[in-house]
Formats: sequence, structure tokens, C-alpha cells
Amino acid sequence: MAETSGPDGFPYPLGLRVAGRLVVVVGGGPVAARRARGLVDAGARVRVIAPELCEDLAALVAGAETGPADGAAEWVRREYRTGDLAEAWLAHTATGDRSTDRQVADDAEALRVFCVTAGDAGAGTAWTPAVARVRLHGAGLTEEITVAVHAGRDPRRAQAIRSEVQAQLESGELPIRRRRPVASAGATVRPGRVALVGGGPGEAGLISVRGRSLLARADVVVADRLGPRSLLDELAPDVQVVEVGKTAGNHPVPQDEINRILVQHATAGRNVVRLKGGDPYVFGRGGEELAACLDAGIETEVVPGVTSAVSVPAAVGIPLTHRGVARGFSVLTGHDALQAKGPAADGAGVAGGPDHTLVLLMGVSRLAETAAALVTGERRADTPVAVVEDGYGPRQRVTVGTLADIADRAAQAEVRPPAVVVVGDVVRLAPAWHDRPAG
Ligand SMILES: C[S@@+](CC[C@H](N)C(=O)[O-])C[C@H]1O[C@@H](n2cnc3c(N)ncnc32)[C@H](O)[C@@H]1O
Repeated sequence: MAETSGPDGFPYPLGLRVAGRLVVVVGGGPVAARRARGLVDAGARVRVIAPELCEDLAALVAGAETGPADGAAEWVRREYRTGDLAEAWLAHTATGDRSTDRQVADDAEALRVFCVTAGDAGAGTAWTPAVARVRLHGAGLTEEITVAVHAGRDPRRAQAIRSEVQAQLESGELPIRRRRPVASAGATVRPGRVALVGGGPGEAGLISVRGRSLLARADVVVADRLGPRSLLDELAPDVQVVEVGKTAGNHPVPQDEINRILVQHATAGRNVVRLKGGDPYVFGRGGEELAACLDAGIETEVVPGVTSAVSVPAAVGIPLTHRGVARGFSVLTGHDALQAKGPAADGAGVAGGPDHTLVLLMGVSRLAETAAALVTGERRADTPVAVVEDGYGPRQRVTVGTLADIADRAAQAEVRPPAVVVVGDVVRLAPAWHDRPAG
């Protein structure tokens, strides 16, 4: 990359199989240590020639950090001499002394051995690129993509470009999907994997790096109505998207059917991402999907997500456990009748305690009953309540009130799902509380 052709031409990029082959590294400092480490990792027989070694190189030579299977390094404790490159397939010199490096380069040239010269790139016959190795977990196997960058004679620039490409590979912004050949009839199909990915509340930037990376490698995406739907537009045209969420005029796909779809695609050898809103395990039925996949013998990974229970209040400035205001919070479904009082109360402190925040998901349709039930518990009727609709979405809006009047205010404002309801004094910290219309 970014090479300029000169009288010597361009470097010719190549991958070398150095396993079991002798590579001579001349020099005992940190640059030599980095080179030697990479070579040992690649399985080379590394001979280090230097009167002294830095700590890393000493550790490498002592075998303190590598097992014998990773290659090996030996130390010749003296200055370099002509003749040291006999039998070598490759030489690296990084002594910090220009004349020694030159000598090594000249000796290498005479023996037709390629030589990397750290101090003076112009003197050598080989150049090490900036390298990134990105591990990808695919259908039953782990594979590695190696990115190697040359940027003229500017190693820092090469490193910067390498780091950027690596970050984009890891985040899934670059197309890293394996193009597998379609299995022919009768051939054994290696099963695919399922990843249950928590996509966060809908904003594309709030999915995890791991989730985004898996999405970029998916053959099939089984998508919900909530979650980062804009990421679906970025998928390659041949990625199959299966919609299983409820949309207007369209019933949700039953859970058993979703489980069946996941297992069916993975069994056929496809990498499946089940892209879910928020976190898979917070009212997300992720546990059932995991069990179905595991029962079918499918390798399955669960990637946690940013739950709407925490993020949607944050989007409108509500810190759920603001110090001195709330000592804890509970997340409940507002779909079912709340037991706010007595032995069947929904968890310790749910009914009472002005210092405990309640977060209700799926709470719009029963808002009036829920508010009434909470007042009959230990909460005062003037406890603040916020209903946050479509957090991070184009319809994001917050309606505030108290347990006494929130149902009327929400009805007046025609509040619609999806929405998160927050009950407790922390609501007073939201800008919307100060701007609320008098009621
Ligand atoms: C079936 S639950 C799934 C919750 C999800 N697993 C999570 O951790 O956020 C769906 C409910 O989550 C809430 N929700 C999810 N995303 C939301 C968003 N962007 N804005 C408001 N509420 C949201 C709503 O209460 C909605 O009814």
C-alpha cells in the first residue's frame, strides 16, 4: 500500500513459511525482540546474535513465555561475525549500529539470503509490514485473517493504517463473511453456529463490537422489530433476513417457530445471528432460544446487549441510581398486573421505598392499573413517573407526571409502545421534569 516506485521497484509482498527454518536475528534490543517473537510464533528456529539481551528477548530465549511447539530461540552471546548467516533462510538485523547492520546486509546479499535491516530500510532486501491478526470464529472453526501493511518507508504510517483496518475488521465494518461454496447434494454439511446478539435499544452505535462483528459474518439474520434495524441495510444482498417481530398488520412469529428457524438454518450449515433488541436475557426469551439450539446440538453464543431498561432512561437524562436519590432499581414487566403489596410483592422494595427506582418494560397498555397498584403500596401518589417512548429513535419523546396523573397525561399525549416507564424520584433529574406542563 502507498508505495512509490523507485529505481528499486516496489516491495513484493509474500508470506513465508519459516517453521523449522533457521532465521538469524542480529541485535539484542526491543526491535530485535519484536522480530524474534514474531518469528518464534511462526515456528522458526531463531538464532539471536548479540552480546547482551533486553528483558523480552532474554525471556524469549529462556523459553519462559513460549512452549517448544511455537518454535524456539537460541542465543549466541557475542558480537556478529561474517559467517553467522550460514544455513539461514532469512536475516534480521537491528543492532542500532549502522556499520554492523550494513555488514549483515552485505553478507546476506552475498549468500542470497533476504535481510531486513531495521536501522536503514534502504540497505536491506526485505521489509516487515505492520501486521494485524484477527481471529474469526466461524462454523465450528476458528480462522485467522492476516493484514500486512507497507506504507512506503514510513512504518508509523503503516502501523496507523494497520490499526484502523484491524479495528474495522473486528467491529464488522469490513466485509469479513466467508464465501463458502454451496454444499453439493449428498455431501456432509458442517453445522453452522447461532449467535444470540443483544442489539441494544436501536441506535446502531450501541451494539457491542462483538455483536457487530458477528452480524458482518452472518449468512442469516433473524431480526426483531426493536434493536438496531439500520444495520440490516448494511448487510450484503445475499444475506437472508428473516423478520420475526410484530409489525403493523403482521403478527409476531411464535417462539417455537423462531427456535425452529434458528436450528434449521444452523443445521443447514449457515451462520445465524438472532438480532434482538436490548439484551437477550432481559424479557427477551433468549434463554429459551439458547436451550432450543443447545438441545439440537448447535454451537451457540450469547452476546449481551445494552438493555433498554437502563439506556432508554439515560437517553432522556434519567440516572437510575443517582447517589443520594435511589439506592437501587428493579426492572419489571408492566404487561402483567403488579403485586405491589403484601407477601406476593414483586421483589423486595418494589412497592415502597422512595429510594428505589422502578423500571417497567411493556408498560404502556396497563399504565393506569400499574400506577394505581403502586399507590396502594407504599409509594406516594406524587411519586414522579416518566414514560419514554422510542428511545434513540425518530419518535423519542418523554412524558412526565406522577403516579396520580401519569395515566391521564399519557393518554392525552397518545403515548405508544415501545416505551420504558420509570417510577421514582430520579425522574426529577430529567430536564423534561423541569419543563413539564402544569397539570
Ligand atoms: C420484549 S421487551 C424486550 C426488552 C429487551 N430485551 C431489552 O433488554 O431492552 C420489549 C420492551 O422493551 C422496551 N424497549 C425496547 N427498546 C425500546 C426503545 N428503543 N424505546 C423504548 N422502549 C424500548 C419497551 O418497553 C418494549 O415494550
